[in-house]
Amino acid sequence: MKKLFRLALVSSLSLMCFSCYYDELYIEEIPEIPEDQIVSFQDDIQPIFTANCIGCHNASVANPDLREGNSYNAIVPEYVIAGDAENSEFYQKLPGIGHQPDPGFTLDVDEIALIKGWIDQGAENN
Ligand code: HEC
Repeated sequence: MKKLFRLALVSSLSLMCFSCYYDELYIEEIPEIPEDQIVSFQDDIQPIFTANCIGCHNASVANPDLREGNSYNAIVPEYVIAGDAENSEFYQKLPGIGHQPDPGFTLDVDEIALIKGWIDQGAENN
């Protein structure tokens, strides 16, 4: 009986930790972008980098360099598997998915969805 109680306690505690961890740090549900939406690197993706990333991801602070003109070659193919966002290091380390450079800083789910869609569509320099 005691053993059963301990087991129940341990499993509910670990469940609790597991869910807080995700609630606080990671966005769980990334919406799919509409199938007929073509994501453009220049018009959709670069502006997200310019607004959110280049304070650090420039030539001097952190790799990869995400400034306009440098970003595509800095991430494809080193960090991006064209057609497979979920297995791409770049996607896995997006702020909100797996990398939290500043406490509390994440991308919006819609921005993450665009980046995911762009990689899944072949990560073109379009
Ligand atoms: C406050 C500074 C800061 C901001 C803002 C920031 N990053 Fe980072 N990023 C870092 C640092 C420092 C590292 C390297 C250490 C680490 O992994 O935490 C890094 C690492 C990464 C990596 C992994 C690189 C590797 O070689 O493992 C990726 C991918 C990345 N950032 C993407 C982004 C994107 C995309 C944005 C904007 C949406 C962003 N980061 C915003 C500081 C930042």
